[in-house]
Amino acid sequence: MPPPQSTPSPLPPEISPELESWAKAWFQDGQLDFPADFRWGTATSAHQVEGNNTLNQWWAFEQIPGAIWHGDRSGWACDWWRHAEPDLDQMAALHQNAHRLSVEWSRIEPQPGHFDHSALDRYREILGGLRDRGIEPLVTLHHFTNPLWLERRGGWEDGGVVALFRRFVETTVQALGDLCSFWCTINEPMVYVAQGWFLGQWPPQRSHFPTAMRVTRHLLFAHAEAYHAIHRIQPDAMVGYAKHVRLFQGLRPGHPLDRYAAGLKRWLFEHLWVAATGDGLLRPPLAGFERDPRLVGTRDYFGVNYYTQDRTRFTPNPLHLFGVEQFPPHVEQSEPGRHGRPFAAFAPEGLYQVCQELQRHAPGVPIYITENGVPDREDRLRPRWLVAHLQQLHRAIQDGCHVRGYYHWTLVDNFEWAEGWGLRFGLFALDPTTQERTPRPSAYLYREIARRNAVPRSLEVPPPRP
Ligand code: BGC
Repeated sequence: MPPPQSTPSPLPPEISPELESWAKAWFQDGQLDFPADFRWGTATSAHQVEGNNTLNQWWAFEQIPGAIWHGDRSGWACDWWRHAEPDLDQMAALHQNAHRLSVEWSRIEPQPGHFDHSALDRYREILGGLRDRGIEPLVTLHHFTNPLWLERRGGWEDGGVVALFRRFVETTVQALGDLCSFWCTINEPMVYVAQGWFLGQWPPQRSHFPTAMRVTRHLLFAHAEAYHAIHRIQPDAMVGYAKHVRLFQGLRPGHPLDRYAAGLKRWLFEHLWVAATGDGLLRPPLAGFERDPRLVGTRDYFGVNYYTQDRTRFTPNPLHLFGVEQFPPHVEQSEPGRHGRPFAAFAPEGLYQVCQELQRHAPGVPIYITENGVPDREDRLRPRWLVAHLQQLHRAIQDGCHVRGYYHWTLVDNFEWAEGWGLRFGLFALDPTTQERTPRPSAYLYREIARRNAVPRSLEVPPPRP
């Protein structure tokens, strides 16, 4: 694909007065104020926005016919490698004071042990650009992609990855540390494992439970090694991970087998990781309760990626781990993904529940919502989903949870992994061929929320949209 001719259009030249008043009207019944230093941001990841990331395993995967919905490719993505700055301007115009982004291992270390300092310089420009605009960066060090050279030597299945990841992290933190002290080691480890080694839908497309558990152990050790390496370089750094949480529950109320299957999913998908990074214990089936001292207390904060809540229905099939997920009937649902299942069901109270559970598990550890959003090309659901989730976050804060920030997924429509360009999460719509951006109404609403540091009190009567 030839490079797009145009650079991303800067902020809409004129802010639409109608949409501005529409956003303000949400607050007509009052507002719920957030703490003074609350962080408002959006979240992105390198491969999904940078474009032309030819040296990682996802780029290779995209070339396989049928791998990505509609045969899409990431291509120039949101063209950030060349032109991130206009989007940084958008963030500033939305009154954002925070942004979560990731660095691409395959750009920084294109060959084993060979570090590309021009790539690190480009990240310095972007991080500096954020800081110049009053936006505090949170940098993720692994967000689903690996250099091809790592894949060829066994990727995350081979234990050697732990030391290789630590070396990459050390080099990156040494190079960027004066511009960032807020780090996320690994994004959604259990999504990465489930998609790559259980469901077999993402590279390396395997379905083998023992290997999935081995990869999980390597991810845990890599996280722990990275955690300590960062603290050696930056003693005051805030280091954690971003954990996807789905709060599996039995589908049929009171049905014991549904409850059992949901409990198993929660154990595997949610508790194993969170518990291990607290007390250092590797619980079955990860291992037989061995304690690894490297893991103890390796989260200075909890990063929570929350989209929806799953309901599990028992099935005798062990290949599904005895449960299949579906959304409850009669609940509002988002656009479907490639397999026809809606991406999410409307379940904002789940966000309150996650915060409460984490706070009970680890009192005082700060929580950041490192992702939350909904695919919604027409922006029909997003305004209400946004307000409803933030109301629940406000409630969690009122009830004593230390929630310090919220990063909406995402600023501009970006490349959605196996769903390609099929799911649109952006506050701004993107035409990937022209790179033209168009703000959705939610961009105005989120701007108003960040500007006031408050969320509308009422969800009852959303004002009509111009
Ligand atoms: C991932 C993002 C992804 C988003 C929406 C999260 O699982 O971290 O990379 O784009 O969900 O699907």
